[in-house]
Amino acid sequence: MNRKNVQNLYALGHAQWYDPFKKVWNRLVSTKAEKELAAFLEKNVNNNTSILELGCGTALNLEKVFALDSNFKKYLGLDFSTDMLEIAKNKFVNLPHVKFQQKDITNLNDIGEKFDIIICTWVLSHLQSPSQIVNQMQKLISPRGKAFLIFFSRPKWFINVWLYPLAKYLFKAKPLSRYRSA
Ligand SMILES: C[S@@+](CC[C@H](N)C(=O)[O-])C[C@H]1O[C@@H](n2cnc3c(N)ncnc32)[C@H](O)[C@@H]1O
Repeated sequence: MNRKNVQNLYALGHAQWYDPFKKVWNRLVSTKAEKELAAFLEKNVNNNTSILELGCGTALNLEKVFALDSNFKKYLGLDFSTDMLEIAKNKFVNLPHVKFQQKDITNLNDIGEKFDIIICTWVLSHLQSPSQIVNQMQKLISPRGKAFLIFFSRPKWFINVWLYPLAKYLFKAKPLSRYRSA
């Protein structure tokens, strides 16, 4: 999707509604995926874990990490929306092991380190070439590390007939093909 359109979508007017909207979205569309993400974090995060999040938005996933019993080593959240990041930063102040950086995730070449866990949820469908980002992402996973992705994929045709135009118009997102290679 067009980068400018996506940036406009997550500018202030929409950023401030994102968290309440996401609660409804989770209920209607993604209960199972969000539960699986929580279970993944529960299983894989410990005191030594470094976490990279691509397209962290308002840091709802970091809230999930903080809800766990265990601690973590560090978290870096990347997003290109100033307004989404502003909300994220205000949720987590004075925490030296939590960092947010304004960055377009279509170029990850300058991230000079590897992470134990990479999270990327509801972002790939916004990108023109999602497979390129997945390829770059793989290079940033430490040898025994793991990635967890949630994305909008193509549903059955009779749902897609109305969902695709709606998603394109409202969310500037398009479903990923199930058969697209990374
Ligand atoms: C639907 S939100 C998802 C936020 C968060 N991952 C979540 O699950 O709540 C999509 C986020 O991806 C960010 N985004 C989209 N394309 C991006 C890009 N090329 N570089 C950085 N961030 C991007 C948007 O700014 C927005 O915050």
